[in-house]
Amino acid sequence: MTDRRTQVAIIGAGPAGLLLSHLLAAEGVESVVVETRSEEYVAARIRAGILEQSTVDLLRSAGLGERLTREGDQHRGIYLQWPSERHHVDFVSLTGRSVWVYGQTEVQKDLVAARRSAGQEIHYEISETALHDLTGDLPSVSFIDSAGAPQRIVADVVVGCDGSFGPSRNAVPAAVRSTWEKAYPYSWLGILADVAPSTDELIYAWHPDGFAMHSMRSSTVSRLYLQVPNDTAVDDWSDDRIWESLATRLGHGQAGWQLTPGPVIEKSVLPMRSFVQTPMRHGRLFLAGDAAHIVPPTGAKGLNLAVADVALLAPALVGLLRKHDARLADEYSDTALRRVWRCTHFSWWMTTMLHPSGDPFEEQLQLSQLRWLTSSEAGATGMAENYAGLPIGF
Ligand code: FAD
Ligand code: DHB
Repeated sequence: MTDRRTQVAIIGAGPAGLLLSHLLAAEGVESVVVETRSEEYVAARIRAGILEQSTVDLLRSAGLGERLTREGDQHRGIYLQWPSERHHVDFVSLTGRSVWVYGQTEVQKDLVAARRSAGQEIHYEISETALHDLTGDLPSVSFIDSAGAPQRIVADVVVGCDGSFGPSRNAVPAAVRSTWEKAYPYSWLGILADVAPSTDELIYAWHPDGFAMHSMRSSTVSRLYLQVPNDTAVDDWSDDRIWESLATRLGHGQAGWQLTPGPVIEKSVLPMRSFVQTPMRHGRLFLAGDAAHIVPPTGAKGLNLAVADVALLAPALVGLLRKHDARLADEYSDTALRRVWRCTHFSWWMTTMLHPSGDPFEEQLQLSQLRWLTSSEAGATGMAENYAGLPIGF
């Protein structure tokens, strides 16, 4: 077993883990990152696509905004739709804040490039990650490296940025952790298509057949989603069936509007759940991003929430490790959880408003809510404030 001493051991090289190593390095704090997958696999995963204002501000202030500013597409708002109605909600005029279309794949590539040029130590393709001595002064992470050799990183602090399936959250003893969870009775079938988007901004559509959404990744790549039953097999949906359903749900009563189909590059089914584990700190272990909380994708909060956690955690660890000031570290869990619960509510609310449940009473309430949101400035402002994102530290 080879031992390596560092200040912060980070488990997971997704957006939360790499951004944390970047922000810590800028303040002179050393970290080592470990990741089970390969660098290429992590960078190619098709996931989130919308960055809120505070995420963009943070990436820019951390020196990660150059390509985002050049290639990202700033959107003023979204369209909300139900049969025969389509309304634009303009976040900029309601709140002065906007959102950007810039895929998680691109954020990840920018982070990898920045960390590589800084010489960041990252161990990819590791296995058997285990956390030790989390309540002592020298916690550690052991693993088997890509060459099959056992390794151990001894640190002042361990951070679990290992997403929804990693071991960190279960390293908090059951007696001191609480969890809240909700599963939804539907999933999303998502496609990435090599075709110019048929809309200038995202469309969220309520339809009696099920929810549909038209998003995008660039001026030539579209991302679209359909509500499907849980346990849907992706092979049951041919490309033709997908485009027909999208055209029906997105085009309902939209005279003069047409969905342009194109080659499907990727196709997958995403289950939907809400999950929160508290506290987000146990001794010298801190949790950030999907390791601590999962939201259903409606409303595009998952990646933004991971970034917001890290934006709080980095200065907290700098205080703890460089200035012997534990105040922000002690407040981290409570401060982060205020935003986590706000986003958990917003994602639940967007999800339950837009997915017809088959219950006729609930469906009338959903439509009433959509009408109110698109006709009342107060209603629209509440949505805009949450969607475009509250300031870090909210
Ligand atoms: P992750 O990106 O999950 O990164 C965690 C990393 O830890 C991974 O690279 C993982 O390989 C690594 N890891 C796991 N176990 C270990 C271990 N034992 N040892 C070392 N490393 C480990 N959000 C949206 O807004 N829109 C979407 O359409 C959308 N789609 C999604 C689709 C899927 C399938 C998933 C899982 C999430 C999706 N999200 C979406 C949410 C968004 O992508 C996440 O919120 C975001 O990736 C969180 O970043 P993270 O760094 O916390 O976790
Ligand atoms: C995307 C996903 C979302 O869940 C959402 O609300 C908006 C956009 C996307 O993948 O582009």
